[in-house]
Amino acid sequence: MLSAAVAGGVFASPPPASILAAILCLHGAGASGVLLIVKNYTGDRLNFGLAAEQARNHGVDVEMVVVADDCAFTCPSKAGKRGLCGTILIHKLAGALADEGCSLVHIVAKVTEVLQGIGTLGVSLSPCSVPGCRPSFELPPGDMELGLGIHGEPGVRRSKVATADEVVSAMIDHMTNAASQSCLHLQTGDVLVVCVNNLGALSRLEMAVVTRAAILCLENRGMVVARVMAGSFMTSLEMAGMSLTLMRANPEILKLFDAKTSAPAWPNLSGGCASGRSYLTAPTPMSTGGPQDVLLEGPQSPVMRKVLERVCSTLLEYQEELNALDRASGDGDCGNTHAQAAKAIQVWLQSHVVPGCPGQLLSALAGLVQEKMGGSSGALYSLFLTAASGHLTGGRSHAAAWANAVHAGMQAMRRYGGADLGDRTMLDALCPAVDELMKANSTPPGGGMAALKAAAQRAADGAESTRSLAAKAGRASYIAAERLTLPDPGAKAVAAILSAVVEALEEP
Ligand SMILES: *[C@@H]1O[C@H](CO)[C@@H](O)[C@H](O)[C@H]1NC(C)=O
Ligand SMILES: *[C@@H]1O[C@H](CO)[C@@H](O)[C@H](O)[C@H]1NC(C)=O
Repeated sequence: MLSAAVAGGVFASPPPASILAAILCLHGAGASGVLLIVKNYTGDRLNFGLAAEQARNHGVDVEMVVVADDCAFTCPSKAGKRGLCGTILIHKLAGALADEGCSLVHIVAKVTEVLQGIGTLGVSLSPCSVPGCRPSFELPPGDMELGLGIHGEPGVRRSKVATADEVVSAMIDHMTNAASQSCLHLQTGDVLVVCVNNLGALSRLEMAVVTRAAILCLENRGMVVARVMAGSFMTSLEMAGMSLTLMRANPEILKLFDAKTSAPAWPNLSGGCASGRSYLTAPTPMSTGGPQDVLLEGPQSPVMRKVLERVCSTLLEYQEELNALDRASGDGDCGNTHAQAAKAIQVWLQSHVVPGCPGQLLSALAGLVQEKMGGSSGALYSLFLTAASGHLTGGRSHAAAWANAVHAGMQAMRRYGGADLGDRTMLDALCPAVDELMKANSTPPGGGMAALKAAAQRAADGAESTRSLAAKAGRASYIAAERLTLPDPGAKAVAAILSAVVEALEEP
């Protein structure tokens, strides 16, 4: 694709002597001519121009094309259109033409023609900084900058951060605005090659989101997206942004674009990903969740509904507190995962009867929590509920059956979760509570409520006791013990759930 590249200092043009050395090196290796592909910056134009003149004096056939694909400027500007990521498309097409054995003059004519149909615009959420220097410009949080250069030059317009779809749409509007000095003229039905270029710091996930937005936006405007490439092709150090390059194409251009190359940074699109369409999959319909069995109400159903509603509202109230506790020991989302489960249960309650058989109820909750809560908490609660539900079949719902059920649930959590009492996990609240319930296993009918209240108290005490525990399992085990002075959020959540159950049952 390319025979040589000449590097300058960071963001600076290479000196003419380096450029001349590269040209002479290729000439010496037998090149019949040398094409310089230069981005439109004054320093580059001067230094490459000087080297080209010197090379001609050495008898080398040298030509230079200047890439100016910048679509940022709306009115005539002294700085002129800069060379941006469209340059790599010129590298590719010129390389393919040379590979076909075309003459230097022909290649220059061809790429000059193609250049008329290439446009690029960048957007960024951050400036970049040359190592050891201050950032190239200031950008307040929440703002984004449109139309940047690749050397940290600020852009032409600043606005509030928006969704990927909105940003891409605004970029394409700007690039194709016929009133703009530097626009790219596009018409419905134009065939396009699209290059989504990471300016440095975007994740693959973000790149994929933006790429999808670009394809959909262009297709909605009646363009034919023939090829898509996404990746880091022309970066600006650690800038958190991307640029969008559009190239009008025809079958000849596509053939050159598709030509085989072993250049390591060129994406191999021949594995079936050559069409924009193949990046997309049809949206799958959302699963509605919940068990398929027919569930029947029973005499206990209204009570159990009330209890569930209280547990959900309690978890939502505690969301921020649990997040705060979790930030001290884990990834700060403990409240969010519990709130997610609570919201899923609330939605489920709106459209389902609460089954009269407690076993069926717990197993329905296990399914919900597994699907909607996520994370290891979701798996652990789901294990607990699944194991417990097996002990509450056939309508057995007296205090002893509940005690056996929660005991089985706790054992399942221990077995599969790999944690135990004293490891600073939710078990530190759950185990004492279950012990209390098991003690009361033989309570006479009617003594269940007192046992439950005592169990809730034991859970609260157990959760508090985790303040002084070193973590041996779970989220906090990666944190140094002296940094843990707050109680474990998982244990706190268990205590909150039990006390919500008691409150709901005590209400008249
Ligand atoms: C390149 O930039 C200069 C200003 O530095 C400008 O005058 C010129 O028009 C630009 N070239 C192209 C092809 O736009
Ligand atoms: C690109 O991928 C195709 C199909 O997977 C493979 O046959 C070809 O060798 C690859 N080309 C390069 C340069 O890796």
